[in-house]
Amino acid sequence: MSQQLLPVVQEFVNRVRRYFQQSYEETELWRRVCADLELLLKEPDLKKSCATWPDTKKGNGPPGNLLFYEDPDYKFVLNALVKTPLAETNIHDHGKSWTLYGVLEGGEHIQRWQRVDSNPRESGPAALKQDGAFNVTSGYIDLVPPWQIHQEKNGNHRTIGFIVRSQRSGTFDQYRYDTNNGSVHANRGPTQIPYELC
Ligand SMILES: [Fe+2]
Repeated sequence: MSQQLLPVVQEFVNRVRRYFQQSYEETELWRRVCADLELLLKEPDLKKSCATWPDTKKGNGPPGNLLFYEDPDYKFVLNALVKTPLAETNIHDHGKSWTLYGVLEGGEHIQRWQRVDSNPRESGPAALKQDGAFNVTSGYIDLVPPWQIHQEKNGNHRTIGFIVRSQRSGTFDQYRYDTNNGSVHANRGPTQIPYELC
């Protein structure tokens, strides 16, 4: 995979690498990355580039992620999820990973749940209680800590999430939840599609 990046994105990567080098505690590290991502989402070069990114989540089909960068030392990655109008995800978590999900274009409806059972995390059955529902638009960043359960429903337009993950999907288990019967399904997350961001 080419690791060449738009200059503004390379500068962002350099800052994130410095936070890792400074050994911040996880919550503080991702809070700092979040502040930098907020600025990156406003960059005209990035907005211009995303106009040609291909769709990676069509309707209720399986999700894919454009994969722009994987850090060789600290393992964080840069991804994008490009949803077609009205596409929606299933109810899921991102396992042990941290995720910053920044809305670069469009807007959608996000819902969150918490587990209210004490069954095994990986097998359930799971009982979920909704604990958040809100609309987001361009510029919003959803900071998703490990194990947080959520779902996104797109509006009637394209929506692009520019994503920073603590590690590449496919290298850890994450879980999908069925609220009808409480079943919990392990999976390896969105398909990774190497894509040059330059
Ligand atoms: Fe997600």
